[in-house]
Amino acid sequence: MLPPKENELITRVEPGTPMGNTMRRYWIPACLSSEIAERDCPPVRVKLLGEDLVAFRDSEGRIGLIDEFCPHRRVSLYFGRNEECGLRCVYHGWKYDVEGNCVDQLNEPPEHQFKHHIHITAYPTSEMGGIVWAYMGPPEKMPAPPKFAWTQVPQARRHVSKVIEECNWLQALEGGIDTSHAPILHRLLTDNSTRGGIKPSNPFVRGKAPNLVVDVTDYGYLYAGIRPLGDSDVHIRTYHFVMPFHQIRPSRSESGIPCDAGHIWVPMDDYNCMVYNWMYSTTDAPLTDEDRRERGIGNGPDFVDQTTFRSKRNRENNYLLDRRVQKTETFTGIDGVNAQDRAVQESMGRVVDRTREHLGPADRAVIQARRLLLQATRTVEAGGTPPGVEATYYLLHPAEAVAPTNTDWRTLLASRAPRTDVLQRA
Ligand code: FES
Ligand SMILES: [Fe+2]
Repeated sequence: MLPPKENELITRVEPGTPMGNTMRRYWIPACLSSEIAERDCPPVRVKLLGEDLVAFRDSEGRIGLIDEFCPHRRVSLYFGRNEECGLRCVYHGWKYDVEGNCVDQLNEPPEHQFKHHIHITAYPTSEMGGIVWAYMGPPEKMPAPPKFAWTQVPQARRHVSKVIEECNWLQALEGGIDTSHAPILHRLLTDNSTRGGIKPSNPFVRGKAPNLVVDVTDYGYLYAGIRPLGDSDVHIRTYHFVMPFHQIRPSRSESGIPCDAGHIWVPMDDYNCMVYNWMYSTTDAPLTDEDRRERGIGNGPDFVDQTTFRSKRNRENNYLLDRRVQKTETFTGIDGVNAQDRAVQESMGRVVDRTREHLGPADRAVIQARRLLLQATRTVEAGGTPPGVEATYYLLHPAEAVAPTNTDWRTLLASRAPRTDVLQRA
């Protein structure tokens, strides 16, 4: 449990809050590259850390990420015209370039124009791995570029999607670093089911409740869930938590290709987050069209409106819970592994009251993440650098295996070092 003050401190990300200041020290996903694929494309709205922004790609291919509201009389630039290297407000025709400079004022004669005095907030961006990343912190403290291993592989082997989760970012993140729930919440009741989930014959489900081990690192931590499997074996699954909101886990694509995968829980404001879902084939095999539909995981176009990025299964329709399916096929009766995650996490309320929880040893990774995040706010407030901004997370790799009971999982992890030979350097 967390005292109310700490719960406030760790969850709130609006400008000027301690966690908001901490988040602004990292590269943060702002939108998918595909949302602003073309030069002079329509702008898109971006909500980040409580700030309303718009993103666009100008005539030269440069990306702008600027305040949504025109400084003249505060009209939304979402309605703007993206043309000739800038975004023009449709109300009186003021225009802004990707650096936030006002470059034209159509409603003033040349002798009255004061465009050189007008500047709109503009954040630097970096495009990597199919995502436009933003840096919203002090310019002199910009971190190393976010070259996660998955951002560096050829596009044919990578897939990225996103979906809004209607609750505070931290409780969503806490679901992602909580291995103990996965083979319970996401369990299928029968191996014959074709729905998304983990089959009863899978050692992840067959194994007993896990022992959790957490090793703190300079980027966050790596942790393992170790499950006894009969008398002589264990099932081991390792994850990474990269500050402040990344998870990296072992996975397989829908067609069975071995993958590394993960989520990024990006705070839109205190009550909503945008979850980015990525996976990449760790072999040379490219991902298939079926893999990219993400039907089993519950994030593709069948599950998520690709314009609003709202889940079609959401709190208003109880995630289309089917009680018959819950009796016969899946533990929850809700289709889509990540739709199941959203259902339980959103059910806790927009910001869960952490004074009323009862945590146990199986919550060790969640507890450690909170500790690191709270420490990071103190570090930033004291003028220091929080963990996870240096390049130490670039080649992280998770692992999963069934191994003899006395196996050292750290050795197992080391033996599955990333294949740097297949990484395409940016
Ligand atoms: S409000 Fe944008 S130009 Fe007037
Ligand atoms: Fe889950």
